[in-house]
Amino acid sequence: MTTIQATVEVQDLRKSFFDESRGEVRAVDGVSFSCRPGEVFGLLGANGAGKTTTLRVLSTVLRPTGGTASVMGHDVLAQPEAVRKNLGFYSASTALYPRLTGRETLEFFARINSYPPERVAGRVEALIDRFGIREYAGARVEKLSTGMKQKVSIARTIAHDPPVLIFDEPTVGLDVLNALEMAKMIRELGGEGKTILYSSHIMSEVEKLCDRIGIIHRGQLLALGTLESLREATGQHYLEDIFIHYVTRTEGSEGVGIGAMGELQEASPAGERPRGAR
Ligand SMILES: Nc1ncnc2c1ncn2[C@@H]1O[C@H](COP(=O)(O)OP(=O)(O)OP(=O)(O)O)[C@@H](O)[C@H]1O
Ligand SMILES: [Mg+2]
Repeated sequence: MTTIQATVEVQDLRKSFFDESRGEVRAVDGVSFSCRPGEVFGLLGANGAGKTTTLRVLSTVLRPTGGTASVMGHDVLAQPEAVRKNLGFYSASTALYPRLTGRETLEFFARINSYPPERVAGRVEALIDRFGIREYAGARVEKLSTGMKQKVSIARTIAHDPPVLIFDEPTVGLDVLNALEMAKMIRELGGEGKTILYSSHIMSEVEKLCDRIGIIHRGQLLALGTLESLREATGQHYLEDIFIHYVTRTEGSEGVGIGAMGELQEASPAGERPRGAR
């Protein structure tokens, strides 16, 4: 048996789209990183930075234009089925089948992702207990509240017990308590040895949750490291300031600022520090 050092390996990854109005859009433009078991790796970037595109390539939904990406040693192009078996993908916009019950949803996703058939029933009941959803596991998903659906969705993501989990902006649309619960769940999964790839534009979440952070901007990874190492490299304490440090460097005199909600916006006048930034 070969030992796998990196659970996720991305090398000079590129993905371009051709858009009628914009021409070639280099959504991912030469991104490289790798992840280890038990690590929560955060991709931090503004709207349109290339987070979702990177994660979609890893999940085999999109074909890369260049470079390579692999999950548990399986290449996304050469062995897409093996990649999917080893990976769970969660995003707030991933739809559930409204007419299935929670229990049926978990069974379905365990099966299509090649979980051993004889163990599916036991796995599903264990997930129902773990996520505290027994009370409504028999109800159609369409009748559940957002928070309940979210639990079914996370359980669905890990139904086949994959070693690598991708969470693409998982807290979008959640209230504070549910967002905290989501963060707790992610940390627990990391503690169990899962590799977590997590994307967000919310500084405080990334700061608290991630073992290592990659700052992505216009399809490129501008910095990569632990919060501590990024602090040392920039002389800034807060992730927000670290982020601005890297992004403004590449923006030149245009300048960008961070709004109250953490979105990037053009700063005016050029390069001015936004009010309210720590
Ligand atoms: N199918 C597509 N066709 C054309 N352009 C696309 C397509 N998908 C993404 N893009 C473009 O690629 C760039 C990166 O988009 P992506 O969705 O990866 O960003 P993101 O970092 O996930 O942003 P957000 O925080 O808004 O989710 C954007 O300019 C986007 O418009
Ligand atoms: Mg996105």
